[in-house]
Amino acid sequence: MITGKYPSLRLRRSRKNDWSRRLVEENNLSSNDFILPIFLIDGNNKKIPIKSMPDVYRYTIDKIRPVIDKAINNGLPMIALFPYSSKTKKNLLGTEALNEDNLVCKAIQVIKKKYKNEIGIMCDVALDPYTSHGHDGLLSDNYVLNDETIEVLVSQSLLQAQMGCDVLAPSDMMDGRIGHIRKSLDKNGYQMTQLLSYAVKYASNFYGPFRDAIGSKGLLKGNKKNYQMDFRNKNESLREVALDIKEGADMVMVKPGMPYLDIIKLVKENFKIPVMAYQVSGEYSLLSNGINKGIVDKNVILESLIAFKRSGANAIVSYYADKLDKILK
Ligand code: PBG
Repeated sequence: MITGKYPSLRLRRSRKNDWSRRLVEENNLSSNDFILPIFLIDGNNKKIPIKSMPDVYRYTIDKIRPVIDKAINNGLPMIALFPYSSKTKKNLLGTEALNEDNLVCKAIQVIKKKYKNEIGIMCDVALDPYTSHGHDGLLSDNYVLNDETIEVLVSQSLLQAQMGCDVLAPSDMMDGRIGHIRKSLDKNGYQMTQLLSYAVKYASNFYGPFRDAIGSKGLLKGNKKNYQMDFRNKNESLREVALDIKEGADMVMVKPGMPYLDIIKLVKENFKIPVMAYQVSGEYSLLSNGINKGIVDKNVILESLIAFKRSGANAIVSYYADKLDKILK
C-alpha cells in the first residue's frame, strides 16, 4: 500500500478520459498531411488491381476522375503520378520519358485542364519506368552514369513542367541534378515550378511492390546501391540534404518512411525545411497484409502515420491517402 504524498504527480491523470487525452495530444493528422500516389496505365476503361499491393490499382486516364474528385473532396493537397509502361515502350535509354505523348504527360494535361489549381500534381523525375534494365538512369558496364543521366532528367523535368506539373520530384539520386534542373527550369520560364528532392533515398528492400506496380519487377539488373544511399548511413543524409538545399530544392523527401524516422527527425531538426516522408510500397503491403490476415488490428495504420508526424515530417506520401475517411475517423 502506497501512503504519504508520493506520487504527487501522476501522469496517468491526463490519460484517464478520452476528452483529456484529446486535450493534451501533441500530434495529429489531417488530410493536409497526405500526398496520394496514383498509378497510370495505357488503354481505356480499366482499373487494374496490383497483385502485391492490396486495394491499390492502376488506372487508365479516363478512369482517374473519381479518384481525383475524392482526393479533392477529402482535402488532399497533392497527388503523385506514376506510369506503368508496357515492355514494348521500354528501351536501354528510357526514351519514352521524353515522349510528349507519354502517359504522365497526357495525364498532367487532362488533370490540369479539368481541375486547374484545385490540387497539386507531383511527378517523379527518373527513368526507371522507361528503361529495359529497370535502373533510374543510363547504364554503362552495370554502372549508372551520372552526368549523362542528368542531361536526360533535365529534359524530362522541362517536359513535365511544360505539361503543367506543379512539383517535380527527382527520385534518381544522381549528384547535382537539382541544380541543373533548377537552372533549366528558370531559364525556360518555369521559375514557379517547385522541386521536391528525394534527397535521402535509400537502396531499400521495401520498394518491391512498387516495381511490380510500374512494371519494372524482374527487369532490374543488379541493384541500385551505386546511386541510392546505404541504409547503414546517417551522417551522409545531412550532406545530401545540404547539397540539395544549396542547389535549390524547395522540399526534401526521406524514403522509405517508418524504418527511417531517425533520419526524418535529423533532417528536420538540422534544416527546418519542409520534409516529406514516403511510406513506401513494402511498408504499405506488409501492414495491409498483416491487417487482412488478422495478425494486427487496422489501427496500426493510424499509429504508423502519426509516427511520421511525431518524427517531424510535414506530409506523408502514402497509399493509404485515398482511404483516410476510414483511417482518421
Ligand atoms: C523510382 C522510384 C521508386 C519508388 C518511387 N520512385 C523505386 C525505386 O527506386 O526502385 C518507390 C516507391 C515505393 O516503393 O512505394 N524512381
